[in-house]
Amino acid sequence: MAKKDLISVVDMKDEWPDLVDLALKMKAERGHHGDPLLDKTLAMIFEKPSTRTRISFDVAITELGGHALYIDESKMQMDHGETIEDTAKVMSRFVHGIMYRAKDYKTMDKFGEFSTVPVISGLDNLEHPCQALADMVTIKERKGSFRGKKLVYLGDGNNVCNSLLYASAILGLDMVACCPAVRMPNAEIMLNASRIADANGSRIIASHQPEEACVDADVLYTDTWVSMGDDTSLDTATKLFSKYQINKELLALAKPDCIVMHCLPAYRGQEITAEVIDGPNSVVFDQAENRLHAQKAVLYTLLK
Ligand code: CP
Ligand code: NVA
Repeated sequence: MAKKDLISVVDMKDEWPDLVDLALKMKAERGHHGDPLLDKTLAMIFEKPSTRTRISFDVAITELGGHALYIDESKMQMDHGETIEDTAKVMSRFVHGIMYRAKDYKTMDKFGEFSTVPVISGLDNLEHPCQALADMVTIKERKGSFRGKKLVYLGDGNNVCNSLLYASAILGLDMVACCPAVRMPNAEIMLNASRIADANGSRIIASHQPEEACVDADVLYTDTWVSMGDDTSLDTATKLFSKYQINKELLALAKPDCIVMHCLPAYRGQEITAEVIDGPNSVVFDQAENRLHAQKAVLYTLLK
């Protein structure tokens, strides 16, 4: 059977509903899963820093009976001229799966092409699929279902936003990408997600007007204004994104039981105020915890 990757959300489009449910089941099992990945090794290559992705993947594979190997890309031969092709082929002889946090999605894609074991994205500049899965797990946990619910993403149309567009479209959640015109999500992803949503009876909407977009929202979501590898200055970002900040005024426009989400790390006073992220509508720490359960579902599905 051909190996499967999770580099883009759409790589596992058909499995997405089951992944959400499996993550919730595994959460309920509280770490007692009977070691389905006994003796399996997951290599984790990082080209960028990480707290949540690194720790949650390590704990996830451990609690499934396997083992994680942390690799700093700058210490690999790949950073000193060895080709991606050779690296992917060699690593595939040693390990059962590869989690990769890459600077450039083209490197990620190439790794997936030449690896003979599953490659799971731990973020690149285009997408962050495991984050989106944890986010959907959190929304199902809090809201019970996706149909008829409205997620409003505010701020930079970045990797997190791109993956949320795909995940929302696949699961039937309505999503508004509310971003400045010069920082909208990837155009191709927006178009593809809209097509998937059309077929599913849900809606993908672009907006530049936070006060309009946030009305009756079930979920407000934001991310940092300046992603890793983005050379936009804080000054420029502040001018671009200030009106998209999640604060109590925007939250007041949403439904009273609206949940507030952020993939973290957060910068209080920039993309979100402290009173909102630390307030009663915020679910950001449940969301962070759900990275663990979501990734267990991915690892189990791809590596078992
Ligand atoms: N949300 C997320 O991916 O966090 P890390 O960068 O800490 O892994
Ligand atoms: N958009 C952010 C997400 C960090 C988890 C980044 O790429 O830096």
